[in-house]
Amino acid sequence: MAELGTGTGCSLACLVAAFERHATPDQRLHYVGFENDPTMLDWWRDPASRTLVPPSERAALEAILARPIRSTQGVARWRLLDGRATVTLVLGDAARWLPNFSFLADAWFLDAYEPAIETMLWTREVLGHVARLTRAAGTASTFSAAGAVRTGLDAAGFDVQRVAGFDTKRHMTVATRRSGAAASCIQPWFTPPPAANPERVTILGTGLAGAWCARAFAERCARVTVIDPQRSAPRASDVPLAAAAQPDGSWQSEQVRVHDAAWHLLADRCVDLGVPHRLLPITTLAGPTSRMALIASPRELIHALLDHPLIQVTDRASHEGCVVHATAFSTPALDGTVCSRAQPTPNGGSIGQIQLANALDTAIMHEGYALPCADGVHAWIGATNHPGVWAASPHDVATHPMRIQPETASLEAITERLLGASHPVMASWSGTRAASLDHLPMVGPVADDGAFTRAYRAIKHGPMAQAWPPCSYATGQWCSIGHGSHGMLTAPLAADLIADLAFGTPRSITDELLSFLLPQRFALRDLKRARD
Ligand SMILES: C[S@@+](CC[C@H](N)C(=O)[O-])C[C@H]1O[C@@H](n2cnc3c(N)ncnc32)[C@H](O)[C@@H]1O
Repeated sequence: MAELGTGTGCSLACLVAAFERHATPDQRLHYVGFENDPTMLDWWRDPASRTLVPPSERAALEAILARPIRSTQGVARWRLLDGRATVTLVLGDAARWLPNFSFLADAWFLDAYEPAIETMLWTREVLGHVARLTRAAGTASTFSAAGAVRTGLDAAGFDVQRVAGFDTKRHMTVATRRSGAAASCIQPWFTPPPAANPERVTILGTGLAGAWCARAFAERCARVTVIDPQRSAPRASDVPLAAAAQPDGSWQSEQVRVHDAAWHLLADRCVDLGVPHRLLPITTLAGPTSRMALIASPRELIHALLDHPLIQVTDRASHEGCVVHATAFSTPALDGTVCSRAQPTPNGGSIGQIQLANALDTAIMHEGYALPCADGVHAWIGATNHPGVWAASPHDVATHPMRIQPETASLEAITERLLGASHPVMASWSGTRAASLDHLPMVGPVADDGAFTRAYRAIKHGPMAQAWPPCSYATGQWCSIGHGSHGMLTAPLAADLIADLAFGTPRSITDELLSFLLPQRFALRDLKRARD
């Protein structure tokens, strides 16, 4: 289901309630709503307004109102009814955001106001995108019975009918999509694979990337086997306390845009799952910022994510169903694929625990970082992004951050200025992260490198050089690797992206951001630079 103008969330609440009443346990609801003004949901916070909702629909409304909602433009994603209903709420001008999404809705709730009142939602461009995003024989309806609405829908490709309205409305409009959807705007080399609807999934790796993937597939009814590999070195996810920071920097940067989407998804997912986490404001050495950090224990998070009846963790090798490589680095199994030409490289990191001189209620981030523990007495301080250096011994105090990090001056400044001068290290952790070449993870279906090269070799002559085939992928192979020091932030986004692609369900990120995450982006860059 999709909606133009989520507004107060009334239609959404009624939809969720109807789904709860009528759907069978294996059915899933995906709702995508576009709304310019997130404060519209506040209307219901006045108890008098709530009495306007029929009692049978109130529980769904309460579940929606309990959700924190982002105050900036972008996507919010909520899972309701134990994950059976997924709400993707795109906040911002629909005219701007619609062109950057690709999904196929069975039905649309169009705006209730006619063009004379709400011009922006009835333009030819907007209705063209509504048609593009509707299945053949999918429907659209609106309380408006204005002639311009009917002509606009007809021109966009719908068969339109004026039918009896509800309540005080004498008429309303219903419309049926005449043919299949037009092609999406995604470039051929980034075209997603056809939906595979896997019933069984094997996930290699039980770090944050693997655990988030396992949960995302289990929520979509797949049986998941997670393989816990024999480990010789500590994993990134074994770090005792981790933070995901809201990004800082220009929106021109794709990393900032991906990290912003990832941060909001992580915050939404932690609320969905009820996992222990804290939100603290970020301070730098220059002073407080308006950004927040989400702080949690990765081990606790992984434990909560894997605690699901459809998830089984084993150390026995198995490759049932589709396989997700969540192994941080590219493994020999990915040799010959586009992943093998852009191997993530190891980055070292280490953190030490110190006793606080004064209570700390912010996350300090300045090259290195300091995160207060929940006990209010201790903090973890360090840096986990040291290219090319990693510690052989996981718990070696000699490798604690004050000794091995080039950011030592910064860490000393953090401890002295903000925590007090005395900082004996009481415990420490060090390990490696797998960083990709452009510091964004490699996420999605895996294409064969030779086939990709053959299909797009002529791309160096420009995207208009010829008509291109859609990208083809090695069947059933997926990856979520190269998260670097940002796995806490990007692993949930990667997991939702993979599961949404595997099931053909609406994605929580724009089509543009997809192109910064798919692993073939490195192969494409090489082909563009290649000489004859
Ligand atoms: C009549 S209300 C929708 C009511 C909604 N269906 C409900 O159940 O409460 C119209 C909504 O469209 C939103 N809107 C108007 N122009 C928009 C635009 N360009 N992009 C996204 N939303 C817009 C308004 O903020 C308002 O919430």
